[in-house]
Amino acid sequence: MEKNFYFSENILHAENLNLQEFAANHPTPFYLYSQSRIEQNCQAVINAGKGLDFLPCFALKANYNPALLKLIKNMGFGADVVSGGELVFALKAGFAPSKIVFAGVGKTAEEIRLAIESRIHSINVESIEEFKVVQKIAEELEILTGIAFRINPDIEAPTHDYIATGKHINKFGITFEDALPLYRAAAKHPWLKPVGLHIHIGSQILEAEPFLKAADYLIEKVDFLRDQGLPVTVLDLGGGIGIDYTEDFFETTRWPLPQILSAFVARFKGLEIKLLAELGRAIVGDAGLLITKVLYKKQTPLKKFVIVDAGMNNLLRPSLYRAYHPIVPLLRRNAPAEIVDVVGPVCESGDFFAQDRKLQAVEQGDFLAIGGAGAYGQALASNYNLRPLIPEYLVKDTKVKTIFKGERIEQIAQKFEW
Ligand code: LLP
Repeated sequence: MEKNFYFSENILHAENLNLQEFAANHPTPFYLYSQSRIEQNCQAVINAGKGLDFLPCFALKANYNPALLKLIKNMGFGADVVSGGELVFALKAGFAPSKIVFAGVGKTAEEIRLAIESRIHSINVESIEEFKVVQKIAEELEILTGIAFRINPDIEAPTHDYIATGKHINKFGITFEDALPLYRAAAKHPWLKPVGLHIHIGSQILEAEPFLKAADYLIEKVDFLRDQGLPVTVLDLGGGIGIDYTEDFFETTRWPLPQILSAFVARFKGLEIKLLAELGRAIVGDAGLLITKVLYKKQTPLKKFVIVDAGMNNLLRPSLYRAYHPIVPLLRRNAPAEIVDVVGPVCESGDFFAQDRKLQAVEQGDFLAIGGAGAYGQALASNYNLRPLIPEYLVKDTKVKTIFKGERIEQIAQKFEW
């Protein structure tokens, strides 16, 4: 695979863009994405499904910037949405309704109505009560509505507790036993079309094994349903394939995606079924950097802090999950390494990007790149401490497009009654 982020003459580059120069000429902090990297990730997904009836979808929750959505749509992807807002963005970005799936434990009646009226591919039903609401609205509108059942398989996924979703302790999905009578009812219903099953066991998973377990589970259930004479034409395999969040990120030496996904989908060969996948992080996660500037250095009795101009409101993952993100200076110098905490300006002790991290000694005004920031970065950003959202740029070769201008405080102020 190509290197999209790499050092050349001690300067970090994104594709062929000199980031030191770019950062010096643009207000920080900002997000920057490599278009080629996104394209390569999409292509790897497409390749993994070759020879199968396979529709990869992009999980908008990872990053809903319209420019990225259009890019991914143009690679042939469908869309996985979890709210009416994401559905509106998916449609506006031009995803064909027949390539949109809608998941989520708490869909409102309005969201379900919008999904049915938009004639999306399927609604992934997650509870008995939700099923009844979908049924009622489909009857009212007299529109044939594709549904899949999101099954909670009680499978362990080796990841952070907050992003494991496939165990019975999690709020997600419905048990197969609860889904079965609903599947039967749907198969007889004039306005419901049960297409199959959906599964999503968790996120940032770096081993094939839990996915293979999920595959075996699904195959068994498909056989069972078909034995009962029920139609099963689609399996939605969810997302969850992890990315490399280590320092290797900057030389792109590890790429778990192709291997895990190929092993996963290969299990379904011969099943005569359409496969969907819903990948978020694996498409955009390793394509994005958060670039930030060192404001101050500060030595306290116990620690050395590097205070930067990005905060937890911009990239929440370290604070929320204690997630490790690789950090490098844009300019490599021959400076000794130091052990530092890299922290933001937000008024929370949890506002950090790295703790006790060995980093080349930096100075006031230096720029840092935080890697693995393309997924669940800007998408989880907030205005906490009244900090405006920051710009996003898309790089292709040496060309840079502004794909989000960032906010100004006046724009935020206008949303309120004064
Ligand atoms: N499908 C469903 C039903 C999901 O719940 C998710 C993620 C995905 C697909 C996409 O998963 P991915 O391929 O991106 O792993 N904020 C957390 C991640 C939350 C994931 C929630 N669901 C983080 O920053 O790690």
